[in-house]
Amino acid sequence: MQKIALLLATLLLLASCQSEKKEKENTIVIGKKPVKETPFDTGKAIFNGKGKCYTCHKIDKKSIGPGVVEIMKIYEEQDGDLIAFLKQEAGPIVDPETYTVMKTNFAIIKNFSDQELEALKVYMQEISKK
Ligand code: HEC
Repeated sequence: MQKIALLLATLLLLASCQSEKKEKENTIVIGKKPVKETPFDTGKAIFNGKGKCYTCHKIDKKSIGPGVVEIMKIYEEQDGDLIAFLKQEAGPIVDPETYTVMKTNFAIIKNFSDQELEALKVYMQEISKK
């Protein structure tokens, strides 16, 4: 009986560590002071890292997918909702003909939090302005 209680306690501890880890995901620790990452940094890290966006999207030229500058230009012109698109709540407006290729990446994107999607948007907007 005691063993089970111990096991439960360990599990609870592990679970609470995990949620703490999630909250801290956006902070990088330099020395002992936690430094808050900007949404731009977070977005950039996701775009080039776990989001794999960069495999298909370059900044200002077309590769497998349209360049980010082109995407953001069309979203601006048509007042598109980028977050809704990434949540699969809105259809494609840039290049519907190759949407099936983009769709393969939603398996990854659907795991992103609202905050992460917002950060991606900030990053894509910022790099398009330069
Ligand atoms: C396997 C290649 C691939 C990956 C990986 C990929 N995309 Fe795409 N993406 C495409 C293609 C192809 C299109 C053009 C079709 C379309 O417009 O939906 C596209 C279009 C888009 C569009 C325009 C949608 C519209 O309205 O037409 C956005 C925004 C976008 N991608 C964001 C992202 C983000 C953010 C990531 C990373 C989290 C990502 N993509 C990863 C291939 C990819």
